[in-house]
Parts: sequence; C-alpha cells; structure tokens
Amino acid sequence: MNNQFYQIPNQYKMTSLIHQKTYLVNGELKTWNGDTADVYSTISSTEDYQKTHLGKVPNLGENEAIEALESACLAYDKGQGLWPTLKVVDRIACMEKFVEQMKTKRDEVVKLLMWEIGKNLPDSQKEFDRTVDYIYDTIEEYKKIDRDAAKFEKHSGIYAHIRRGPLGVVLCLGPYNYPLNETFALLIPALLMGNTTIFKPAKFGVLLFEPLMEAFQNSFPKGVVNIMFGRGRVLATPIMQTGRIDALALIGNSKSAKVLQKVHPRSNRLRLILGLEAKNPAIVLPDADLDLTISECISGTLSFNGQRCTALKVLYVHEDIVEEFNKRFSAKVDELKFGNPWDEGAKLTPLPEPDKPEYIQELIDDAKEKGANILNPKGGKTIENFIFPAVLFPVSKDMRVYVEEQFGPVIPVVSFKDISQPLDDIADSNYGQQVSLFGKNVKALAPLIDTLVNLVCRVNLNSSCQRGPDVYPFTGRKDSAVSTLSVHDALRSFSIRTFVASKDNEYNNAILNELLDKKVSNFISTDYIL
Ligand code: G3H
Repeated sequence: MNNQFYQIPNQYKMTSLIHQKTYLVNGELKTWNGDTADVYSTISSTEDYQKTHLGKVPNLGENEAIEALESACLAYDKGQGLWPTLKVVDRIACMEKFVEQMKTKRDEVVKLLMWEIGKNLPDSQKEFDRTVDYIYDTIEEYKKIDRDAAKFEKHSGIYAHIRRGPLGVVLCLGPYNYPLNETFALLIPALLMGNTTIFKPAKFGVLLFEPLMEAFQNSFPKGVVNIMFGRGRVLATPIMQTGRIDALALIGNSKSAKVLQKVHPRSNRLRLILGLEAKNPAIVLPDADLDLTISECISGTLSFNGQRCTALKVLYVHEDIVEEFNKRFSAKVDELKFGNPWDEGAKLTPLPEPDKPEYIQELIDDAKEKGANILNPKGGKTIENFIFPAVLFPVSKDMRVYVEEQFGPVIPVVSFKDISQPLDDIADSNYGQQVSLFGKNVKALAPLIDTLVNLVCRVNLNSSCQRGPDVYPFTGRKDSAVSTLSVHDALRSFSIRTFVASKDNEYNNAILNELLDKKVSNFISTDYIL
C-alpha cells in the first residue's frame, strides 16, 4: 500500500475552491465578511502527498449564534408563530418543495461527501438517496399520524381532540460520518412537527451544505431553519447558556452532549434526542456458519473504515473456532482494496481526521505491549491519510482498544470459553446499542437472545449491526442514546401530545361544531390528509 497518485476522474476533480460566504438567519442568506475557516480534504490531488484545499466556510462568532437563536425564537414566537400554528398540510408542502430542490443537487453533494469525509462513491450515493427517501417516508408517516389524530375521543363525559404539538426551539448537531443523513434525520422530523431550528454542520462534511442553502432559504418561512458555520464551542455553548433551547438533538460525542446539557440553566426543561458512542460486540458461537459470519464481520467492522456508531468494535469468538476464524477473517481483511472514494471497488478509503492514523497506531502499540499480536500482514501499515486495519488477538480488558470506541480501522478479537464472559462484559459496558449474534442452535441462542435484548436495543441474528431500515427503532441503553429515532419514532421524539378538552354539553358542543364547520382552527380539524 502506498499513497500513489490516484488518477482523479474528471467528473470528481475539484476544479475551483468553494467559498461558502453565507449563513442562514431570519430567512436571509447573510453574507459573512469576517473570519473564515479553510476546509481541507485528507485526499491528495497531487503525486506528492498533500491535503487538498477544498474551500472556505464562515467562522461565525457568539453574536451570530445569538442572532440565529433570536431568529428561531422569533419564528416560534411563544407558540404563536406562523410555523408552529401552520396546518400540517402546509408544513408538508414546504418540506416537499425543499426535497424537490434537494434532489437536483445530488451530484454536487455526493462529490463533496467523497472529498470531505472520504466515503466511497456507492456509500455516498446511498447516503444521499437514503436521506431523500427518509424525507418522503417521514412525510407519509406524519400524514398517517395526523389522520389518526383527526378525531374526538370521549371519556367520563369529556371530549378530547389529541394531537402532537412541537416542543419549541431545537438545536440540531449531526456527526461527521453521516453529515447529511444523520443531520437530516434530526432536522426533518423536528421541522415537520412545527419546531423551529438552528443547525450547525459537524467538523467534517460542511461544504456539502452549500448547494442546499438556497433550498432551505426559499422553502421555509423565515427563521424556521437557521444554519450556522463555525466551532461548536463558540456557537452552541452560548446558545445553550441562554436556556432558550427546548430540545437538544445531537448525534455524535457524549462529551459535547454532556457539556451542552450542563450549561443549560434549566436542564429539567431540556428535551434530549441523542445518538452517542457504542462499542457493539459480535458474539460468534462454536456452531456459527463461518463464511457468513466472516463476511458480516468484515462489513460490520470495516464499512466506512469502521467510522460508524453501529460498527462492530469488538469480536468475541468461541475458543473452539477462534483459530480458524482468525485465519480466514484476517485473510479477508487483507483482501480489501484501499483507494480513493471514486476508485472502483474501494472498500477502505482515506480517513478524514488527520490525526486518526496516529490514534489507531497508539491503540495497536498499547495492545501489542500488553500481549496482542497483529494477525494480518498488512495490519497497521500506514500512509499519510490511512492506516490499514489490524486484526488484534488476543485482546484483553486492560487494553485501550478493548475499552475505547476506536471509530476507525482496527479490530480487537477476544476469545471466550463460557458465554457468561461476553454477557457480563456487555452488562458492565458503558454502552448498550446493538449486538451481533452468530450461531444456529436454538437451544443456545434462545437464552442469549432473551438476555441480550435486555442489555442492548437490537440483537442482529447472523448479521452485522446497522441502523437501517429507517423504519425500525434506532436507540440505545446507558451512554449510547437518549430517545428513539426511526421514521415514526423521530416524529414522536420531536413533539409532545397536547389536546383540547371539552365537557360534553350543548354549549361546548355547539362551539366545537362551529370550529369544525368553519375550519377556523388549524389544530381542531377532522380533515384527512391523503
Ligand atoms: O454512525 C452511526 C449510524 O447511525 C450508523 O448507521 O448502520 O446505517 O451505517 P448505519
């Protein structure tokens, strides 16, 4: 492996710098003439390695952060704003207008995904398409929720018209590994439910919002979507300190989530929608189909170089088969092709974090010092923007690679004799997102499944861990998540049940009938959105 000059196909060449000059606040794309931040890709465009300069983005300050907050608060206007009181059908129309424009930007966004975060072409395309599907699916689900609410219930002589209402002002912060998909998986349901929002792209995957700025600006009423660029500490902290954020929606690091939660002066009022770290294990039982297991463990550990919260980050393999597993698994790892994101068949790609190879090397050195070996000949080979995944064995609990969420290309393998070992470890772990369980004998599987569902939130039988399909609940226990996301659950997470109650008497019933007949309330309505 060397960092040879990869011929960049013409359609993927960066022909000019992108200068993102504006930020969106109060419905206006404001030009920023202040400090800017340079955006680099760790992918080289030249034969001698050097990072590629992609462009510049505004480096906004505290004043702009507060400006964005004021804008979102004004648009919410204590619940009286246009957006939170708008008919559902009209909010949906705005979202449809947005997604139609977004679709026309596919090529630009996909290209930037590849350059900014190094995601390969098929996965970058998938991220875009999956996000568009997510928006349409969310719209359909919202219509369904709305249809189900288009009625009156009656108990104990009281009519109730129950709907889901917005929470207020939402701060959305997405992660760099799915800068489009996961940011939108927060933003879209938050918006549809009538909240007003402020969002800031993650540390990588920033320029890819440039092609979408106008669509945001012209699709939603002013102040409903506010987009900031800059550092989280500078922008998000002062916003949270005001206590005026009603919901913090963050997918990323628990350190940032904890800090932001802590600085909110009325944290009891703050709703949290968080997707955080995980250390999803695979448990490989002695009767597992090894071909299938190895193929799933390859994609589970190394899709997008292991930079997924759902990645398999530790493999527990039964001692009876560990030798065979290690031999075949390591060989498969070494067969994976490293290349630039647009290279045909590239499964491993440059890491967007410049210091990631060094960090992974530290984990390897620490494990080696404590008795682990690198099983695959290519493991640990390093170039400027990548370190080839090392399969480490035997891994023990005192090693950093066992404890830390590596979020990158290194694979710890632990052998076990008694199933109570991985079960106890999962129970003791700080994380509780998912597990992969490989085996066939139902007598062995059944008690494990019955226990594992109480330790994590998704048990993947003979397959790697993953978030999708997006209709299924995506959540975690302990430090891995707060609240549940899915097409349906996200709409619930960003809203609260609120209702109009009215005693069943002639006086009130006449008022309700008039409200319904004259269609004067956007909340009280039995109309069906088809
Ligand atoms: O980074 C965490 C993502 O939610 C994982 O999603 O399983 O579809 O890659 P995925």
